[in-house]
Amino acid sequence: MIPPRLIFKKTALKVLDQRLLPDRIKYIDASSAARTSAAIKDMALRGAPLIGCAAAFGFALEIRRLHPTSGPDLLTAAGRTAALLRSSRPTAVALHYASDRMLALAAGLAAANPGEFSPSAWKKITGVLDREARLVTSEDQAACLAMGTHGAALLPKNCVIMTHCNAGALATMGIGTAVGVITAAHSLGKIKRAYACETRPYLQGARLTIWELMRAGVPAELITDNMAAHIIKTCGVNAIVVGADRIAANGDTANKIGTYGLAVLAKYHKVPFYVAAPTPTLDMKARTGGDIVIEERSAAEVTFIKGVSLAPRGVKVRHPAFDITPASLITAIITEKGVISPVNKKNMPARISVISL
Ligand code: MRU
Repeated sequence: MIPPRLIFKKTALKVLDQRLLPDRIKYIDASSAARTSAAIKDMALRGAPLIGCAAAFGFALEIRRLHPTSGPDLLTAAGRTAALLRSSRPTAVALHYASDRMLALAAGLAAANPGEFSPSAWKKITGVLDREARLVTSEDQAACLAMGTHGAALLPKNCVIMTHCNAGALATMGIGTAVGVITAAHSLGKIKRAYACETRPYLQGARLTIWELMRAGVPAELITDNMAAHIIKTCGVNAIVVGADRIAANGDTANKIGTYGLAVLAKYHKVPFYVAAPTPTLDMKARTGGDIVIEERSAAEVTFIKGVSLAPRGVKVRHPAFDITPASLITAIITEKGVISPVNKKNMPARISVISL
């Protein structure tokens, strides 16, 4: 079993520090919106659905901590808190979805309680916010299970599958998205072997995904990112599945840097390329991938690994943390509501239905 990623207790939020995995299991305190936001920014926790769940908990406990005393106070506190959480990372829309969802609920509570809060009104408000945060988590857990079922059904017997980054339990509050598909297919006896790309620069594949796959008993091998073409060509890879941070209205998909390259390889080698993502990842306001902000992270994450320098001091570095895979390279998007295929504007998202490819 993967250790709990988040531990929420009304006035406290603890976050599993994924930067130390798999060597150490350590929790850090994220019991204010500022601390939650810093933990997300510093990638103590990461993965689109998980940072959304953390934001929902961070929001609920921040409002409890600030203790606004009237409707207008609550509205101000809620607006500031949501803006802070939202700003932690720009690409994963689940973070923005959860922050906005909590803000909308708080705004409704403020409107319903315009005057000074009585003790019972305050108790009710905090209870409603806590429950909503827990609901964001339970919806994510249910979505992961459903994606596992839909995705596993798409895979052939004796499947040799490749994945990138970490879209597993560590990226969600459930069994994961892409890795959830692999483990669900494994429990049906369908997985011959899984390959996890190490995922430079942050090594989510090497540190997290391969650890999850090994713990789940999936026959799995770790490869460096630049081995992918050779492995696809020579090792019988017959499916690739990845997660997503944001999917535009036409199906263009933002995911961890390197995903686009894998999709190009999949097309060339005629291997189906699947994206597994819960519906809060669909951003209908982004018309195409061009509307999605790609996070640029620090040079140090590229030039250092665990404190060891890899490059000359002062080197110029680029570090886009995500890339956009065009819809035309994606065979299907696996959501909790079913499978979208073909992936195009017309099918997104109105015609989500369980289909067989
Ligand atoms: O920078 P990260 O580690 O947060 O990036 C994570 C990914 O790109 C995942 O593939 C994505 O969030 C999907 S997680 C279910």
